Amino acid sequence: MLPRLAIVALGVFVMASPVLADVTGSKPFGKTADGTPVETYTLKNKNGVTVKLMTLGATVTEINVPDKKGKFANVVLGFDDVAGYQSDRNQYFGCTVGRVANRIAKGKFTLDGKEYKLAINNEPNHLHGGAKRSLDKVVWKGGILKFKDSNEAAVAFSYKSPDGEEGYPGAVTIGVVFSLNDKNELRIDYSAQTDKATLVNLTNHSYFNLAGAGADTVLDHDLKLEANDYVPVDKTLIPTGKLEPVKGTIFDFTKMGRIGERIEKLYDTGAKGYDHCYVLTKREPKPSTATLAARLLEPKSGRVLTVLTDQPGVQVYTGNFLFGQKGKDGKVYNQRSAICLETGGLPDAVNQPTFPSVILRPVETYRHTCVYKFSAE
Ligand code: BGC
Repeated sequence: MLPRLAIVALGVFVMASPVLADVTGSKPFGKTADGTPVETYTLKNKNGVTVKLMTLGATVTEINVPDKKGKFANVVLGFDDVAGYQSDRNQYFGCTVGRVANRIAKGKFTLDGKEYKLAINNEPNHLHGGAKRSLDKVVWKGGILKFKDSNEAAVAFSYKSPDGEEGYPGAVTIGVVFSLNDKNELRIDYSAQTDKATLVNLTNHSYFNLAGAGADTVLDHDLKLEANDYVPVDKTLIPTGKLEPVKGTIFDFTKMGRIGERIEKLYDTGAKGYDHCYVLTKREPKPSTATLAARLLEPKSGRVLTVLTDQPGVQVYTGNFLFGQKGKDGKVYNQRSAICLETGGLPDAVNQPTFPSVILRPVETYRHTCVYKFSAE
């Protein structure tokens, strides 16, 4: 049993132990194409909310939450089996993204005077950590943790990414802990340490539809963001380098607003909808203190998702590149049928001198907390 406060250090703790102290509750989910077993874990709270996770990609595969009448639905996109997650139908569904989430212009960066070249897996840029061994594509170690001072259970994942993996310098030890409490808060605590200067910017890529995964669209969801500025991008979705105020523009979600109201104006851009990083206000300087970032409401079911984080940004991505692929339970995921609210650093930060740094040095520990809280009204 671990005290609740140990949660942030947990990632590092878990990684140090090749076999986890408390590996119970895991179930086989299948095998990857190369024969590696994949395990799933289920977190359940006293309200009947369940969160399913798996070791491939440290991925959230299901979140079952009630609507205003108490009716449960799974609100995140996913697949029935490992093959689905390993297929090209998978666009980072529910996974942990890294080493660097979002784009790096032309797959190039310079760190301490040395130039690094990364995979160009989203022409002409590098996206979400690379092509073959990005964090969504590897099988993590997993285990269930219990806390001494609460009934909460948590699932901890760890992965040791070798020096040079996907072109990034440094051997990086990464931990991600998912915990669920009786307030229907799914908390994600990330940590990472490196043996050489490198880049780290992790996120979770859950695609939400609060009417239930597979419901037609999220254009009828309402959204509010704690952001006065956003990051404008070029047609390849690389930041122009400036931050722009959202006030009075189609990017303005400072008040609760319908996602579909003005999105059409973005259909002919490279993003094909919202696919923009918002710069969060009122950041709490204390590490791992997550403050309000976003609120998403689906008016018919009354389901609400509140997002809290300690990070500077949230990427709002309205599933513009979903293409009608078949997912879990035969559900079809059409374009704009889900929204990702990816907390983290700003895109292409390593090439943008004015953006907060995503460089991690050996003496430091990367930390990031994101809370997805579910309610109904
Ligand atoms: C990005 C999109 C990208 C998607 C891939 C999102 O995080 O912002 O541009 O297409 O991930 O599924």
